[in-house]
Amino acid sequence: MVPVVSSGSSISAIHASSRSAAQRQPGQPRHTRLAVRSQAVASPPATRGTSSGSAKLGSKETQKPTAIITGASSGLGLNAAKALAATGDWHVVMAVRDYSKAARMARELGIPRDSYSILHLDLASLDSVRDFVESFRASGRRLDALVANAAVYLPTAKEPTPTADGFELSVGTNHLAHFLLVNLLLEDLKAAPKKSPLPAPRLVIVGSITGNTNTLAGNVPPKADLGDLSGLEAGVKVGQASPMIDGGEFDGAKAYKDSKLCNMLTVRELHRRYHDSTGITFSSLYPGCIASSGLFRSHYGLFKTLFPLFQKYITKGYVSEEEAGKRLAQVISDPALGKSGVYWSWNNDTGAFENEVSGEVADGEKGRRLWEVSERLVGLA
Ligand SMILES: NC(=O)c1ccc[n+]([C@@H]2O[C@H](COP(=O)([O-])OP(=O)(O)OC[C@H]3O[C@@H](n4cnc5c(N)ncnc54)[C@H](OP(=O)(O)O)[C@@H]3O)[C@@H](O)[C@H]2O)c1
Repeated sequence: MVPVVSSGSSISAIHASSRSAAQRQPGQPRHTRLAVRSQAVASPPATRGTSSGSAKLGSKETQKPTAIITGASSGLGLNAAKALAATGDWHVVMAVRDYSKAARMARELGIPRDSYSILHLDLASLDSVRDFVESFRASGRRLDALVANAAVYLPTAKEPTPTADGFELSVGTNHLAHFLLVNLLLEDLKAAPKKSPLPAPRLVIVGSITGNTNTLAGNVPPKADLGDLSGLEAGVKVGQASPMIDGGEFDGAKAYKDSKLCNMLTVRELHRRYHDSTGITFSSLYPGCIASSGLFRSHYGLFKTLFPLFQKYITKGYVSEEEAGKRLAQVISDPALGKSGVYWSWNNDTGAFENEVSGEVADGEKGRRLWEVSERLVGLA
């Protein structure tokens, strides 16, 4: 069943009360804007998505724009939450598997208490995704930006680990659970109040250079490659034919890279399907190499010591968590980054630019097939 990791007791209560409506509605999107400016504010209390909280929020028209960020308890997501909250213009919903950790980290980073709320979301369970959507809706908050940021990376794993639904953990968490989440919340984005500093709502899925084989880093073996999607079509189930999307042998590093490739293909397919009809801005990004983030937590000790040094002094690709967080916040809120279908990257001197993607990420037919198979696996089709 659902491997709930949250240590926040009241969160389980929110959980127990949810389930159903969200389960049955996929969705679609609509419009909004804003920039990462400076300083704090007092917005509604840090609710946990209860309906009593919604009563205090007032109408959606008068609320601050809200951004949901998955995996906001550490690294990129946490620092993007901090940067957005610091503008004073946004409310951030930290969608996390560990409530206590998120609360502690938000306090440690000095994120203004009234600028965020914390809601439980365990992406290793599709039930938890559906419960999250219900809890978010019950909170009464508007939705202006949705950011699929959370990820696991298991490069040293010898055996695949299953999600609650039996999927290989990296693909299940990083791709399939986010795929379900963004589909369910498209309706909410579409309904974002017109009165907003953003010209259109935004949906961002964090990508990676490692899923893009048109780069040096993307060519470090094992390379991302979804093959003919035969493993995904068979369900990427642990203990069955193959837990890998391409139907091959399990490889934890490749599973992560494949999942990031899926993230970028999903953004392009979202753009193709829904941008014209909804106006929503769909984008992906590579925030830079955040070599000291928790993403590498399960790597060998020596790697964790040397990798940041290598990135800082040899490749010069190193980016601090704080800087990466500002970059993600820019993609969420900067009017200048409002173009849809873009994969953003940064040049240290000139800032954000529209980057090229690999042939596989640009493969529209593959994007369509990935969408259809993923829809089936998460129960949307
Ligand atoms: N680090 C880099 O160099 C780099 C480069 C390119 C792209 N990225 C991308 O940046 C994003 C953030 O990575 P990061 O570097 O900030 O790593 P991180 O610090 O490990 O953050 C990952 C977040 O995902 C959360 N998470 C993991 N499994 C989850 C689950 N089942 N349910 C809910 N949340 C879950 C983690 O929660 P806990 O706090 O509870 O562990 C954590 O908050 C990822 O999409 C990654 O692919 C990172």
